[in-house]
Amino acid sequence: MCGIVGYIGDREALPVLINGLKRLEYRGYDSAGVAIMGEGTNVYKCKGKVSDLEKHIDGREHSGSIGIGHTRWATHGEPNDVNAHPHVSYHGKFIIIHNGIIENYARLRDKLIERGVKFKSETDTEVLANLIEHIYENGSVDAELAVRLALSKVIGAYGIVVMCTEEKDKLIAARKGSPLVVGVGNEEYFLASDATPIVEYTKSVIYLNDGDVAIIKKEQLNLKTQRSDETGPTVQKLSFDIGEIDKGGYEHFMLKEIFEQPQSIEDTFRGRVSSEESEIRLGGLYDVLPRLIEAKRIIIIGCGTSWHAGLVGEYLFEDIARVSVEVEYASEFRYRNPIIEKDDIIIAISQSGETADTLAAIRQAKEKGAIVLGICNVVGSSIPRETHAGVYTHAGPEIGVASTKAFTCQVTVLAMMAILIGRKKGLISDNKYRSLIKEFTEIPEKIKKILTLSEDIKKLAKLYQNANNALYLGRGYLFPVALEGALKLKEISYIHAEGYPAAEMKHGPIALIDNKMPVVIIATKDSSYEKIVSNIQEVKARSGIVIAVVTEGDTVIRKMADHVIEIPETTNIFAALLSVVPLQLFSYYIAVMRGCNVDQPRNLAKSVTVE
Ligand code: AGP
Ligand code: GLU
Repeated sequence: MCGIVGYIGDREALPVLINGLKRLEYRGYDSAGVAIMGEGTNVYKCKGKVSDLEKHIDGREHSGSIGIGHTRWATHGEPNDVNAHPHVSYHGKFIIIHNGIIENYARLRDKLIERGVKFKSETDTEVLANLIEHIYENGSVDAELAVRLALSKVIGAYGIVVMCTEEKDKLIAARKGSPLVVGVGNEEYFLASDATPIVEYTKSVIYLNDGDVAIIKKEQLNLKTQRSDETGPTVQKLSFDIGEIDKGGYEHFMLKEIFEQPQSIEDTFRGRVSSEESEIRLGGLYDVLPRLIEAKRIIIIGCGTSWHAGLVGEYLFEDIARVSVEVEYASEFRYRNPIIEKDDIIIAISQSGETADTLAAIRQAKEKGAIVLGICNVVGSSIPRETHAGVYTHAGPEIGVASTKAFTCQVTVLAMMAILIGRKKGLISDNKYRSLIKEFTEIPEKIKKILTLSEDIKKLAKLYQNANNALYLGRGYLFPVALEGALKLKEISYIHAEGYPAAEMKHGPIALIDNKMPVVIIATKDSSYEKIVSNIQEVKARSGIVIAVVTEGDTVIRKMADHVIEIPETTNIFAALLSVVPLQLFSYYIAVMRGCNVDQPRNLAKSVTVE
């Protein structure tokens, strides 16, 4: 998720922390804070940018040579000053910063409240701070063991750095599922979520592994596994310089976010999908689940890529949960005085949570008495605040204007919802459920495999960088992917591209076929495979150019198409998650070769907050 920095040595800590947080700003965030341990311990934090934090600190006491800093991307508790990190435990002995998600935070918090612990924030992180202190005060253990014991009770992902006001000579760092790097200096150590804040001070780094706990004093570092076995730290040398760090080594945010998709889907699964559990858990829907199960119709609203995700949702809900679905452009829905029945459920999809047309459609649907749910990526944004319930995609900040990881996380949430409803309606047997979840949880690894094709896709993009038009075709679950692939190409490379249901080609677009225009056909193995093969033959019969996205090992289409991109096999309900990735890369590389401003394409905004 977001940014962590730490320092222990002889320098003044604050400048190192602020500089480090600024190096991590490329990751996107909604609030920032620092804690400095000197004579006293000072904690400063606020919603907003690091520059706002600097103003907040200006003129206040901040001397000290040990400190921690954090940029937050909220997952639990909206962005505000209280929910910002660092978090201080209830008796003030522990100060903690955290990247990640503590899945069982609610249960842990309830137990602590039963024991009289008071909470100030809504975050999962504060629960960990208080759990550590509770163990420390009641277990006669030192700070390190209190941290270790607390972490043994935590389910979820974390990268944490902890300070204890009764053991002021150390930092305690631990990681599980959220990266942490230690920079090794001369009688000083640096900590960060990645190497970018460290490289200007030292190139000697230790990458913590899952389960590691590092006890860091100015003069030495002890690295232990969570079972407290001593492990010798492996010090590595960084190969890059300060100049390459803007986007974590990627040329553009869009490319970084395409490559983040395996992680962002795993983060979206976290605490919700597990093969051990008998059903999917979406806590944000608990209050409305009965209404969702009884719904006679679901109306999905959104704009752009979110609307495409909604189209995939239509296939998912009708196929798996057997509930009727309509998908509407929010901008059309809001103006056509739609009929909304009392049993209808509206689902609004939005990465930013601020899209004006989607917000307006939500307000209108609520006025008509509908239950409105949100699928959103920004905690505390307008849409989650205005919907009755919802589910966050935990894609992390999406900076590139062209939406990529948000789309696959939106589809992931929609698939979870469809499976949850189907299961509750008794439409999915235990065996079917287990096989679905097995396949679902293998998707991130399959996307990683597709990402290894990026150089091949780059070579393919080079052949078509000067195309004037492109046609994208798909059937079933892959029709929305054709639309999404076309949108990606047109919005960042400015090449006109259209997506169409493949069968519709004969009703017009076939007139466009010539020997210059690439026709991208998503033709993975599914129930309409034979039909899509015919569509490919129709294009080839007219000297068309076919770029086919196919299932690994497909030998039939390889003989027909001009180019094939092979992706791993999956069931058709998850096919959109895989088949969109080559199209994202294809459009990215074409746009770069055309010299376009990939992250901020002309005329476009990341969030269309105007009508
Ligand atoms: C997609 O790549 C575009 N950036 C755009 O179509 C976007 O999906 C649309 O503006 C909706 O934004 P939202 O998801 O933040 O509501
Ligand atoms: N889950 C924590 C919170 O919501 C940490 C989020 C982050 O990784 O920035 O505050």
